[in-house]
Amino acid sequence: MRDWMGRNLHYLRLSLTERCNLKCIYCREETDFCKAKQELNLRELTQLMNVMVRLGVTKVRLTGGEPLVRKDLEQIIHMVSGYTQIQDLSMTTNAQGLCDRIQQLHQAGLQRVNISMDSLDQERYRRMTRGGDLQQVLNGIDAALREDMQVKINVVLVRSENDNEIDDFIALAKEYPVDVRFIELMPFSALGTQNDQRVLGSDVLKLHPELTAVAPRYASQPSEDYTGTDFKGRIGFINPVSHKFCKNCNRVRITGDGRLRMCLGRDEETDLRPYLRQYPEQLYDVVRSAMYHKPEKHAFEQAYRAARAMNQIGG
Ligand code: 5AD
Repeated sequence: MRDWMGRNLHYLRLSLTERCNLKCIYCREETDFCKAKQELNLRELTQLMNVMVRLGVTKVRLTGGEPLVRKDLEQIIHMVSGYTQIQDLSMTTNAQGLCDRIQQLHQAGLQRVNISMDSLDQERYRRMTRGGDLQQVLNGIDAALREDMQVKINVVLVRSENDNEIDDFIALAKEYPVDVRFIELMPFSALGTQNDQRVLGSDVLKLHPELTAVAPRYASQPSEDYTGTDFKGRIGFINPVSHKFCKNCNRVRITGDGRLRMCLGRDEETDLRPYLRQYPEQLYDVVRSAMYHKPEKHAFEQAYRAARAMNQIGG
């Protein structure tokens, strides 16, 4: 459906849980605690999908937290991919344990994966994720490529943390058929509220004049894509802070605890659980009205820090 500004909202980012087996430094604080009890079950997620499809959603990304921590993930994927209206179904994951499940997920209907990998160095990866195993990520990428699935790699650049690995990540897109996307740090934890922690896409491009711009893979894609000579993959820049793409934003988010969040960079949310549980006949109108009033733009540059951590929102 179109909102008040005429934006076509057809992309749902559906968070399945706040829980995550990692605690990435840019996502949440070390001491955060997750409430699994609030999660929507398969029946509630189906109710929600019915409404979303009626409102014109054609593209779904499963997010979290970490979607893989849900034991019923395969069933959820099967349910979502069962809608003929859904043409694109992907998932964002940290890939811990992905290699053992990717085949089932693919068979259930998952088409693509975005894998978070912020360092190619074991020790640094462990530090940035507070406990993750880099080998698991590499195995996951390998397994997804063997399944012939499209793989995108998300790299959040944090100054003085992983910005000395930019060349290695670019080399990865040269050698493998993966898109590496550098994402500007957004203010969802103590990190990212200060500008000097952010590495801008333009800073990277200044150091890499050999990269040349290519057309986006699809219209209103947030990343600006680049390639180099003999590259198998692409380099993308997602610059939500320095280059707002709010005018073209086509997204709707559902948080891990069942709230509709119309803008990643604004705290307003509508709790859908009462409508899923007590007043289902009102669900369609409530969602439709909130979608229609989607905020014009995010507030990242106004010394904003999100009230909830990224794992609670679902990126
Ligand atoms: N800034 C930018 N991207 C973030 N992500 C999570 N937190 C942040 C942040 N503060 C994105 C990363 C990660 C995905 C799960 O969410 O791309 O790979």
